[in-house]
Amino acid sequence: MKKENWNPEADRYLKSGERELHQFLHSTRTNEAVDWRKLLGKKDRRWLPFQRASEKCGGIRGRILEVGAGDGWCSAAVLRHYEIEESFIMEIDEAAIDSLIPETLRNFEVDDKNVTLVLGSFNSIPYVDYFDFVIAMGSLHHSENLFVTLRSLWSALKPGGSLLSQEPAMADSTSNEFYRQKSQQVKKFKEGIEFRNEERSDHFYRKCEYYTALHHAGFEVDLEELAGANPAPTKKTSIWSRLMGGVGEKPTVESSPNTPTNIFIRATKPLSGEASLPITAWESI
Ligand SMILES: C[S@@+](CC[C@H](N)C(=O)[O-])C[C@H]1O[C@@H](n2cnc3c(N)ncnc32)[C@H](O)[C@@H]1O
Repeated sequence: MKKENWNPEADRYLKSGERELHQFLHSTRTNEAVDWRKLLGKKDRRWLPFQRASEKCGGIRGRILEVGAGDGWCSAAVLRHYEIEESFIMEIDEAAIDSLIPETLRNFEVDDKNVTLVLGSFNSIPYVDYFDFVIAMGSLHHSENLFVTLRSLWSALKPGGSLLSQEPAMADSTSNEFYRQKSQQVKKFKEGIEFRNEERSDHFYRKCEYYTALHHAGFEVDLEELAGANPAPTKKTSIWSRLMGGVGEKPTVESSPNTPTNIFIRATKPLSGEASLPITAWESI
């Protein structure tokens, strides 16, 4: 197992509170001696959509990078289930890199010969056109600037490579006031630490913001709203189900405003590798 340091502190978008919090959370956590089947069983709600998306890509292979890996459960599961040439597993804090992720890899009993543990941020990746897959399981919503983050992942992917990501997302109709109030709330963690949301990055972006940032970063996008993700039946959808008795394509169900749902993103860098030229000037930052 190798290690690389991509200097997360050089990322001007990464808030010190975000690093401090996760350093604390990861140092208080342990997966020691937990059977990997039990661990993965608890992740069904996320691992099954991941496998579905990977099937659509013809399976996971080649060089992979996981960003914001937490304890590394998803990379460990990928190493158990697929033939991987090289696996880079990234986190922003030393506690995850030095202890928590190695412990998870041991639990999953995987060969770590081609594994590189990376201390880094998803906004500054020093590899270009290198990875076949980038994985982000619940980490993109910690981005302070979704476009910058997705552009960085786009650049790290080979042409034809894919980003696979599961994220919480808000309905398109969620109000700005909701975000203003959320930023002022203090979150108390059961591990015994608290942070005002504005001191860190925990943005439940709207679904339309994911679409916009992904398209503008240059990806072709397939986005799935996951079951159990709080769809609020609208008048339109209940009339449709009465009329059609469940037959045919249903109209899109819009989730309730101000309530999180879950999405799965499969986004591909076109084979041409060309950045989609800005359609508007939003990206010139
Ligand atoms: C909600 S946790 C998800 C962890 C893990 N992927 C999982 O599925 O359990 C989000 C993770 O993103 C990481 N993160 C936050 N900002 C990041 C950044 N700029 N670059 C990479 N990872 C980041 C945090 O340290 C945290 O571990």
